[in-house]
Amino acid sequence: MEERAQLTVNGETIDLPIITGTHNEKAIDISSLRSKTSHITLDCGFGNTGACTSAITFLDGEKGVLHYRGIPIEELAEKSTFVETAYLLITGELPSQGQLDNFAASFTEHASLHKDMLNFFNGYPITGHPMGLLSAMVCSLSGYHPELLKTDVSGEEIERMGAQLLSKVRTIAAYTYRKSINKPFIPPRDDLKYIPNFLHMMFSAPQKEYTPEPAVVNALQTLLILHADHEQNCSTSTVRLVGSSWANLYACVSAGVCALWGPLHGGANQQVIEMLQEIHAAGGNTQKFIDKAKNPNSHYRLMGFGHRVYKNYDPRAKIIKQRAHQLLEEHGIHDPLLEIAVKLEEAVLKDDYFKKRKLYPNVDFYSGIIYKAIGIPTAMFPVMFAIGRMPGWIAHWKEMKEDPKTRIGRPRQIYTGYAQRDYVPIAQR
Ligand code: CMC
Repeated sequence: MEERAQLTVNGETIDLPIITGTHNEKAIDISSLRSKTSHITLDCGFGNTGACTSAITFLDGEKGVLHYRGIPIEELAEKSTFVETAYLLITGELPSQGQLDNFAASFTEHASLHKDMLNFFNGYPITGHPMGLLSAMVCSLSGYHPELLKTDVSGEEIERMGAQLLSKVRTIAAYTYRKSINKPFIPPRDDLKYIPNFLHMMFSAPQKEYTPEPAVVNALQTLLILHADHEQNCSTSTVRLVGSSWANLYACVSAGVCALWGPLHGGANQQVIEMLQEIHAAGGNTQKFIDKAKNPNSHYRLMGFGHRVYKNYDPRAKIIKQRAHQLLEEHGIHDPLLEIAVKLEEAVLKDDYFKKRKLYPNVDFYSGIIYKAIGIPTAMFPVMFAIGRMPGWIAHWKEMKEDPKTRIGRPRQIYTGYAQRDYVPIAQR
């Protein structure tokens, strides 16, 4: 029997449909609320508001479960590659060998940047944050590839656009780093796969090829897979909202990069390492920082803890923590920041303040330890998150374009400012 919900407003009861998801998640469809009652709903921060239905990612925050297209991320992290996972997210299915080869060939074809785009890097201050450059460069791609500005695209055409964007972003990210250390750009190589090619552009020198160890490639592979999508988070919702005005893919993804940059979202991985360094410099006194975060008069937060939807251990953090230990052990690296992170986590998990609020380590808590061990500088951490999240943004843009129910995103508000008043000329104010 179809489930319905009844809502009584000022004595009048209306009947609303209930939507049920694959895993029995429930939503009351209030799209007729205003026309039936002249009321809207108010939900600051959208904690209870579904903006769409989606078949891309399933997440159960209470149980700590995350699936891409039905496949648990634990399996993907162990068995898949970033490019294959990107294909899965964007198309909905795992590729055959032929499909994967075609998809990968588009990456090779589009790896280089237009020579005029290289001038952009020269105009950006060497100390400028790489996310500012990444966002500007992604949006600027639209000027160099107008053939891909079309917004009435679907199916295979979006897949090609996605491969092109994923490939170009990798080159932009590596060149951004090269610019920041004032070193010449290292062009992509046709014979390298996605991650070795990225590391080659980052760390090779004109006369000296950098060959990454398999453990480094594997660790980065895992990180990118685990960041690839996370349903309706701040940056993905931004991509969808911008896209709902029929803006092109580049404009939408560029807006997604900006949303991700914030320290409460993808910028948190940079903040975590800076916090751990601060704790280290303060002699490793984790309790002092925990107390500061618990102080209701301080806005300070322990970065890398807490999540809007996870009220249990973030399943991504579990895998990343294990990979961080593994990578450091295999390379004989002793990083005091990992010890501080473990000590901080142990103390937080025992602390009533954090227990009561169900605050656990999130995806950003241990990822920086891995990036640091690979030699990626702190300011580039959010860029790494952005490379990882690209397939999700593309998949959501595609899903939104193909969904006939999509309307321009336009939330309402409750106005609380002045009631009507008269204009007062400046001399009389
Ligand atoms: N440290 C100390 N207290 C915290 C923290 C934290 N990291 N996170 C939440 N709280 C407290 C918060 O002060 C509030 O307490 P009270 O009930 O007394 O007012 C309560 O927990 C609920 O917090 P909230 O701000 O209402 O929760 P939210 O769902 O709006 O915010 C969050 C989620 C991730 C923005 C928040 O937990 C936070 O700021 N964490 C630190 C930043 C961070 O690590 N961000 C990365 C998130 S994972 C990557 C991604 O997908 O973006």
